[in-house]
Amino acid sequence: MEISVNKEIIRLINTIETPAIVYDADIIKYFINKLRQDTLNIPNLEICFAVKANRNPLVLKVMREANLGADIASIEELNVAIEAGLFPIYCTSPGFSHEQIENIYNHSIIFDFDNLSQLKNWLFKSSLKNRKIGLRIRPYLDKKYTDDITVGEKSRFGINPASEELHEIIKNNNLLVEQLHVHIGEKKNSLVFKELLNYIETIINTFDNFKDIKKINLGGGYDHLYANASEVRNSWDAVEEFSENISRRLNRDIKIIIEPGSLLTNASGFLYSEVKASDELSPECQRIILDSSAFNLLSWAKPKILLSTSKSAEKIIHKIYGPTCFEYDYFFSPALNKLGIDDRILMHPVGAYVSGINRNLHGLQNPKEYLLISNKLMDYEVTYERK
Ligand SMILES: Cc1ncc(COP(=O)(O)O)c(C=O)c1O
Repeated sequence: MEISVNKEIIRLINTIETPAIVYDADIIKYFINKLRQDTLNIPNLEICFAVKANRNPLVLKVMREANLGADIASIEELNVAIEAGLFPIYCTSPGFSHEQIENIYNHSIIFDFDNLSQLKNWLFKSSLKNRKIGLRIRPYLDKKYTDDITVGEKSRFGINPASEELHEIIKNNNLLVEQLHVHIGEKKNSLVFKELLNYIETIINTFDNFKDIKKINLGGGYDHLYANASEVRNSWDAVEEFSENISRRLNRDIKIIIEPGSLLTNASGFLYSEVKASDELSPECQRIILDSSAFNLLSWAKPKILLSTSKSAEKIIHKIYGPTCFEYDYFFSPALNKLGIDDRILMHPVGAYVSGINRNLHGLQNPKEYLLISNKLMDYEVTYERK
């Protein structure tokens, strides 16, 4: 999907202190509105932002203003989601201790248990009388879809819904399964999405222990789908039909939850960086060192260069590196107009899984983060007027 880059984002390349990440609030709102429009016909749908994608408080405020809920996977994410006022909140995490799970319940959130030992340990140690639980389910989809998802049958996440031990635990402890959570990572097309929905319908039809569910959480992973408008349409049409079928079958309104992370924020993020060294390797190629580190910032993200301040007409290959002592702190090797020391470059997109998962080699300062909103640049407390 094409997004247009705000002139202010471009203008900042000459003025902002680097390294910096700027999130454009209009782009976040564009994706929220698009998702809302696309899912308008799905009854009882709740959109919850996956806070793991970006926990910047200003970004979360945009989510709050759009009335989004939150998906969280740590107590830190719980705290920032509450602080931002995101509601409702859903939570699954494979490594939560029973204390952390009790903390979740104390916030009136039903935990989606990820594995059997987590559930058993909680039952053994928990003082709570509450027996309402959610389950993160590991789906067993037809083998032909293996390449169309990133997290499936072989995933380390989730509980086999057919596990006899699971059903015994539910029965013996009088548990009420109110939530089913199924995240299969990036859904590459609408066919695999439909396969997932069929799978959920089948397990609900098969196991009596799932007849009390009130909510079905379809997780995140919508970026690939949004590269193709007809895949998007087919997917949401399938979810609409699924929602109606399940509600009819269970004879009550079942809530459908989706937890997009990357889709809502990735395209909103712009990374500004300055050249600190530029050395010729050959007449056609030079090595550039930036003031931001690919090793520290880009474990997952793969931005491209949008713009530079180079005044040179000569185009050559640039091998671009970060400023750390790690040999492989490497960005990419594009052909660019020749860069020199103090030139700047603008990289995009870095709005998801960058600031939230940065490494800390040498204790380098993380890029300062801002939100551009109504052409004003905001950090946590300060609003910078246009210079
Ligand atoms: C349980 C769960 N929900 C939602 C998400 C968000 O996924 P994405 O950012 O791809 O939309 C993730 C990502 O890892 C996840 O694990």
